[in-house]
Amino acid sequence: MQRIAESLRRLGAKWWRGSSVASFVVSGFVVLSVLGVAGIVYIRSTGQREAVRDAKVLTRIAGEGIVEPLLGEGILTRDPATFAAVDAAVRGRVLHDPIVRVKIWSTTGEILYSDDQRLIGKTFPLGDDELEILHGGGVAAGISNLSQPENALEPRGRKLLEVYLAIHTTSGRPVLFETYQRYRSVAASGRRLWLSFAPAVLGGLGLLWLVQVPLALRLARRLRESQREREELLLRAIQASDIERRRIARDLHDGVVQSLAGVTYSLSAAAERNGGTLVGESLREGAAATRQAIRELRSLLVEIYPPDLHRAGLAAALSDVVAPFPLRGLTANLSVPADLELPSAAEGMLFRIAQEALRNVLAHAAATVVDVTISAEGGRASVVVTDNGRGFDPAAVGARSFGLRLLGDLVRDAGGTLEVETAPGQGATLRAEVPCR
Ligand SMILES: Nc1ncnc2c1ncn2[C@@H]1O[C@H](COP(=O)(O)OP(=O)(O)OP(=O)(O)O)[C@@H](O)[C@H]1O
Ligand SMILES: [Mg+2]
Repeated sequence: MQRIAESLRRLGAKWWRGSSVASFVVSGFVVLSVLGVAGIVYIRSTGQREAVRDAKVLTRIAGEGIVEPLLGEGILTRDPATFAAVDAAVRGRVLHDPIVRVKIWSTTGEILYSDDQRLIGKTFPLGDDELEILHGGGVAAGISNLSQPENALEPRGRKLLEVYLAIHTTSGRPVLFETYQRYRSVAASGRRLWLSFAPAVLGGLGLLWLVQVPLALRLARRLRESQREREELLLRAIQASDIERRRIARDLHDGVVQSLAGVTYSLSAAAERNGGTLVGESLREGAAATRQAIRELRSLLVEIYPPDLHRAGLAAALSDVVAPFPLRGLTANLSVPADLELPSAAEGMLFRIAQEALRNVLAHAAATVVDVTISAEGGRASVVVTDNGRGFDPAAVGARSFGLRLLGDLVRDAGGTLEVETAPGQGATLRAEVPCR
């Protein structure tokens, strides 16, 4: 039974260890995955920001570097020569992937030039952002809203990034230079960036996770080992104190108790020889006192080293417990069947019950007689301890008294019953029954 309990305990501990390592591994995986995804998203958006920055630089080069030097005043009046120069430069040097469209706007929102000639001369109100760039300078970019009328001629379903900046005609009049770039190439450059970083980021995180697994396993093993060491230490400490107590008990028994027994015999013999005299009387008293001392020592031995009940027998063990009672004016009557054969668990239980009941009688009852009766019948063993003392009210037992409560729990756990019959002034009877197993 004990072995089954032990293997169950081990199995439980193993499962606990296994499951805690597993939950560590799983939670580590979840955390690292979240970190990985967050890292990739961040790198991707950084890549896109970089791509938009590149698009702005490209537009600035096209606007300021290529178109602006050719932008004579004639662009405002649609002078064919100026128009042709700008158109040639745009088609020859600007309209290359990713730039797909170019527009030049007047401050009033008129399209002065576009490589799509259908747009030229059309007027659309400029937005606040565009006006701000036109008058304040700088470059701005945004995703094209293809539903706006100025973009009506662009093919649907093609996502575009529009970038605009202010440039000036040769006489210094501001116009808005706008390019439209394929968004696909912006996104592609973001993707390129995160794809180049992904193996390093994901690989690093994965490696970190993999390194943690054996680490967690090793930690769990160390924990288990130190737990086992602690248990062994505790066991050894208990065994050591057990050995020590046994040694003290043996020394007391073989030394002092035997010597005192010798002294008792000598004193009794001397008292016999001097019968009727004053000396003889003193010797007799001395012998009685020495006998009493032996009894007390024997009961002390029981405390230090409880008897091996099974070997000594319940009767002998209980006699040791009641040995010092006569000195306290208490007569103890033990009744234990001579042929009593009990399993050691039941025997131990009966001994503990009787011991606590007798302690209580001695401590609280102020009784003159206590009867202890042990019996066994039909697979159940019982003990009855009756005293003729002052009795008590069981309902009034204080919370700081543990003896009877602990005993009750112990007996119940063992599948037995325990009851106390008593009333103030009427003595007390403790009755307990336990199964013989
Ligand atoms: N045979 C008895 N005669 C009179 N009173 C008793 C007897 N047995 C128990 N009592 C009363 O019941 C109370 C509870 O006893 P219990 O054994 O539970 O605790 P305790 O003896 O006071 O303390 P401990 O925890 O050391 O055993 C005692 O304090 C005592 O007042
Ligand atoms: Mg008690």
